[in-house]
Amino acid sequence: MNISSSEKITESVTWLGKWTFVLAAAGSAVGLGNIWGFTYRVGEGGGSAFVLIYLGCILVVGLPIMMAEIMIGRYAQHSPVSAMKKAALDSGKTGYWQAVGWTGLVSGILILSFYSVLAGMCIKYIGIAAMATPAIVSDVQFDQVTGAPLTLFFWHSIFIGLTVAIIASGVIGGIERMVRLLMPMLFILMVVMVVNAMIYGDFKAGLNYLFTPDFSKVNSSTFLSAMGQAFFSLSLGMGSIMCYGSYMRKSENIFKTSLTVAGLDTLIAILAGLAIFPMIFAYNMNPAEGPGLVFISLLSIFSEMGLVGNFIGPAFFTLLSIAALSSAISLLEPSVAYFEENKIVSRLTAAVILGLIIWVIGIGSVFSFNIWEKMEFIGKRTFMDSIIFLTFDILMPLGGMLVAIFAGWFFKPKLAMDELSAAHVNIFTTWRFFIKFVSPVLVAAVFMSQLFPDLPDQSKDFFITLIGLFR
Ligand code: PHE
Repeated sequence: MNISSSEKITESVTWLGKWTFVLAAAGSAVGLGNIWGFTYRVGEGGGSAFVLIYLGCILVVGLPIMMAEIMIGRYAQHSPVSAMKKAALDSGKTGYWQAVGWTGLVSGILILSFYSVLAGMCIKYIGIAAMATPAIVSDVQFDQVTGAPLTLFFWHSIFIGLTVAIIASGVIGGIERMVRLLMPMLFILMVVMVVNAMIYGDFKAGLNYLFTPDFSKVNSSTFLSAMGQAFFSLSLGMGSIMCYGSYMRKSENIFKTSLTVAGLDTLIAILAGLAIFPMIFAYNMNPAEGPGLVFISLLSIFSEMGLVGNFIGPAFFTLLSIAALSSAISLLEPSVAYFEENKIVSRLTAAVILGLIIWVIGIGSVFSFNIWEKMEFIGKRTFMDSIIFLTFDILMPLGGMLVAIFAGWFFKPKLAMDELSAAHVNIFTTWRFFIKFVSPVLVAAVFMSQLFPDLPDQSKDFFITLIGLFR
């Protein structure tokens, strides 16, 4: 691979439809993170206060980094590894910035390995919800599913197979075609779920819970949780958005499209809250149930609803599976694009080989619920929790922080400005301020406190000692 500033870009693919970038990026962003992750974190974070902080994180940290990723991708018209290298070389900086691209590829592969197991579980739940009767005990049901490695393994394999098939069919024939089909379906199903909550749920309680601010429940972990969630939800720091950005037409306005994608992602998360919490309140369940909110509490509600639940339940788990699939393809695409553009192997071979690797790593997550339940990997974590820790807590914020630092401090302003040309100058200046000073500092703060959870206390002790010395 040899990319220099003088190299002419040939053979770059561009999305056919005007709206495809928005659909594909929203497809990547809207995933298990919005419907499952967002709602259980809202529950744990005490409702509306979390929602407000989350919105702040999306605007102040998420949006500027999303714009930076798209800018770099579209400027370079290459997959993330080569894009970072080209953007750095053309700005007169070292090509080692490609390491940021590599971090993204590795975390994409690792995330997909467990994401696929969870998504497979969602597919399995479509059938479970269709057959559910009021007699079903949903936590026993959950233990049955997670206690059966073969079941999890089977659905994990199906899900990876689907992802590989779509990616192997190409950017236009695979990704573009699928997101045009899946995203409208996803939206319709979401609306069905909200209408269901209006009819059968306590909608007023749900609205109150999500929108009447109550800051008494906020603490430092609320900020951490909101920021991590915003990052994961917008698919940042892993090259997914950068890669999709490289397929974007030069005529499109990066600011407006980023705003639309972030807006759609947030809208779907809020709609998921409006679909889920009214039901939780109407059926006297605990909103702070944690990760079990969807698989345990909701299933038990669907089964109590009788026949209606046998339709609404499967619709809900289909919604989750679709959202997961459009995210999964964006996790695999950056590495496949890398192999393809460097002519290492064909797209098909790359998709199959990488898919196999992810499938094998995923078996560790399958076992994390049963055979390896008590086995500890990083710290006291199971295999799956270790992968989540490595990606969600370390690689993603690290990648996002480096993208922000690169875009703010090292990427030639002229190049960034050209990419933003369709937007107003004020937008460029504002973006530059945020990407230089605000986003990297906030991400760094989150990153440090995730790595060193005791840091706030320790630094407090440190300052108290320091003040004591000077008194
Ligand atoms: N944004 C996706 C979700 O909310 C997950 C994801 C992360 C997808 C990073 C791609 C890249 O579930």
